[in-house]
Amino acid sequence: MTIQTIKTAPFSDQKPGTSGLRKRVGVYQQPNYVENYIQAIFDSLEGFEGKTLVIGGDGRFYNDVAIQTAIKIASANGFGKVLVGQNGLLSTPAASHIIRHYKAFGGLVLSASHNPGGPDGDFGIKYNVSNGGPAPEKITDAVFARSKVIDSYKIVDAADVALDRIGLQRSGNMVVEVVDPVADYAALMQTLFDFPAIEAMFASGFRMTFDAMHAVTGPYAHAIFEGMLGAPKGTVLNGTPSPDFGQGHPDPNLVYCKEMYDLLMSANGPDFGAASDGDGDRNLIIGKNRFVTPSDSLALLAANAHLAPGYKQGIAGIARSMPTSAAADRVAEKLGIEMHETPTGWKFFGNLLDAGRVTICGEESAGTGSNHVREKDGLWAVLLWLNILAVRKQSVDEIVREHWATYGRNYYTRHDYEEVDAEVAGKLVDDLRAKLPSLPGKVFEDDLQIAYADDFTYHDPVDGSTSAKQGIRIGFTDGSRIVLRLSGTGTVGATLRLYLERYEAPDGRHDLETQAALEPLIALADELAGITQRTGRQAPSVIT
Ligand code: G1P
Ligand code: ZN
Repeated sequence: MTIQTIKTAPFSDQKPGTSGLRKRVGVYQQPNYVENYIQAIFDSLEGFEGKTLVIGGDGRFYNDVAIQTAIKIASANGFGKVLVGQNGLLSTPAASHIIRHYKAFGGLVLSASHNPGGPDGDFGIKYNVSNGGPAPEKITDAVFARSKVIDSYKIVDAADVALDRIGLQRSGNMVVEVVDPVADYAALMQTLFDFPAIEAMFASGFRMTFDAMHAVTGPYAHAIFEGMLGAPKGTVLNGTPSPDFGQGHPDPNLVYCKEMYDLLMSANGPDFGAASDGDGDRNLIIGKNRFVTPSDSLALLAANAHLAPGYKQGIAGIARSMPTSAAADRVAEKLGIEMHETPTGWKFFGNLLDAGRVTICGEESAGTGSNHVREKDGLWAVLLWLNILAVRKQSVDEIVREHWATYGRNYYTRHDYEEVDAEVAGKLVDDLRAKLPSLPGKVFEDDLQIAYADDFTYHDPVDGSTSAKQGIRIGFTDGSRIVLRLSGTGTVGATLRLYLERYEAPDGRHDLETQAALEPLIALADELAGITQRTGRQAPSVIT
């Protein structure tokens, strides 16, 4: 075995986005692209000599190639051990747990989340730190800076690791342990939730359908729902991970899970439907005749978390990303606990969780999680819902309606305009930003009066860091909001995200159709930002 130092030339586009470096597979397949990026990560870290690195991914195309490369570069750079999931699989929350559980130095999570996979799809690499969460901006900035000047990488000249073989192997001087991707994670879930109560609910005829979308949660869902909790075989659909996700789009929303939605809305549908995305950190929750928006789900889970054993002492606080609806704020207010509004992206929750200031976090983009790991966690959300249903013995619909009757309803929608010309989108945001100071006080149709208009700046209360330009917020005197920002995960052109929210008091109307309820705000957002006129789009690409 020899350690080779290979000369390379930098790439100019290795800037990590909201969640790691995501690119088309073809970009990653360029010679040295993976090598450069991984070496740039290691060059930006200190003190990992002899320590453990966790590696795992969602099983998408190119995972196997990138994992072998990552192992050899980790070995050459002096890591003592790599823990890797069998067949290269680890869901993102499971990777986070394994980093924490085995006190690893950090981890590489290979995924492009909910983006399509396969040779023409997307690939991604994300570095997570020792708390199990995504690296903070000071590290991702350093990685990008390093990637722009890198001129060599180190790699061992060793054979590939047999990723299908559980147990110990070697890559050069470094130990590689291939681990069961499910066991530790499933054991953690058992400590948080009342498995016997959920098992009893299944035994009494409760019916659920879970769509693993041909992605990483398949093995976890089979083991936990059908294995440990006794749900009938067939409860888990599309449970075998495939490199191109069965040619599907592993994003658990009402567009890509339309069939499940229709089933849950039908007379003979099951009691509960759920799905998770490519890497297992997102969730979709649909009760019989009731879709639960992710923003509402966050509020509901926070309000009912004490019903699960892992949270029976109550929760310390809640955090939500800025575009997420304020439904959870009302729960925090009632519980008398801290509430935090952070920029988009899970990495901003890490400090608050580490400091014990919040227990539950969530994003409108189908992400919810807690202090059990430092990533959002799709199956965790499903299990907490099941635990709540098992204790309350009510339907999802009844629980949601009661919640609105107590706290009021935040009507909420997100409109995405995908693959917009990047220059057009950038100018649209810049022009709207320039207008912001003139907006407060203005009154529009339907008595919509602007209370504030700003570009969100986050001051982290734990480490004192500041993150500016995190999205435009236009707030109204009645609690309504328009939020507009550019996606940081897209791989082609720009994705413009428009978020709309309107609050209806506990005794108000809770049965309106969402798009209709938000129509005045949708029209006003277009008037203020000129989306239709500038992009030429008559309608959003995706409405969630
Ligand atoms: C999107 C979501 C964001 C989430 C991220 C990673 O980021 O909006 O909430 O944390 O994916 O799953 P965006 O593309 O908006 O930057
Ligand atoms: Zn994901």
